Amino acid sequence: MLSQQDLFQRIAKTPQVNIGHFPTPLEECPRLSEALGGPRIYIKREDCSGLAMGGNKVRQLTFTIGDAVAQGADTIVHGAASQSNHCRQAAAACNKLGLRCYLRLARDHKSIVQGNLFLDYLFGADVEIVDIPFGPELEDFKIQLAEKLKTDGLKPYVVTSPRSTALAAVAFVWCIAEIHEQQEKLGIDADWIYTASVGGTQAGLVLGTKALNMKLKPYACSPVHWVGKIDRIRDAANSAASILNLDTQIVDSDILNTDDYIGEAYGYLTPECVSALKLVANTEGIILDPVYTAKAMACLIDHIKDGRLNSNDTVIFLHTGGTPALFAYNDELFGNSII
Ligand SMILES: Cc1ncc(COP(=O)(O)O)c(C=O)c1O
Repeated sequence: MLSQQDLFQRIAKTPQVNIGHFPTPLEECPRLSEALGGPRIYIKREDCSGLAMGGNKVRQLTFTIGDAVAQGADTIVHGAASQSNHCRQAAAACNKLGLRCYLRLARDHKSIVQGNLFLDYLFGADVEIVDIPFGPELEDFKIQLAEKLKTDGLKPYVVTSPRSTALAAVAFVWCIAEIHEQQEKLGIDADWIYTASVGGTQAGLVLGTKALNMKLKPYACSPVHWVGKIDRIRDAANSAASILNLDTQIVDSDILNTDDYIGEAYGYLTPECVSALKLVANTEGIILDPVYTAKAMACLIDHIKDGRLNSNDTVIFLHTGGTPALFAYNDELFGNSII
């Protein structure tokens, strides 16, 4: 059977750059558990991954930018929604490593110079807000831009699926190896790990827990309706298994992922996510984000309320970050009249 040390060694062999603070803490949240009258809750603090206000993409970029550098790239091309956490962390990582960064961000209801977009400008990335929806068209646009940059003499690397999602899965297998080690030190053996994901994060959790034969079962909340999400997550997990030379194979039934907490659409608040955000801030002093983690926490709270989880269970909540996005939502959260 695969051991934790063996898994750490396989991960260490994958090309990577040193950009974050790892391992991230695994912290008990007794006041949150008490407020919910429910399970023992631990939070895995990927929001404390170090670079530029942290988040799950720092761990992911450890391998995607590692891949880029291994291929001799001097420029990163990325793009997503205008408040993308991934793009903000990529811009910061590029600065730390001395790479150029081009961001092409889809214009949407949060294309305001606040939160992540504010930080993209602060990091001096080459930012353009484009009238192209986030999705396959934007991915094509990024690839076309890279072709143009090549003719200018640069060596661009495009952060895009499926490679980026597979390397994210490698990153979150690593996160599971860390959790395995931290659980041993804490003397716990959690039942569930909840998170916000529709891609590589969940793929890595599913692959890591299965490869190490853990009791821990991943459950993810999607932030967006994504056609073909189970195929995407399964394929990323199985690509990561082949990158890491693991025999483990992921099948659809390994993947528990709900769309029930998205609300109106990606990036729009729900009353439940606002309550979850305030509860965690008020009980533990921990900041969730309104787009991903507060929706996943709303799901966890619901599952406690409806009895799917009870006080005999131990749950890990993987906090994937998103902290700066909160500042783009001040109007919705508190209005302008607080002073
Ligand atoms: C804060 C935060 N949480 C969760 C996710 C979801 O990650 P993925 O679906 O790529 O696993 C993202 C992705 O952008 C994010 O920024």
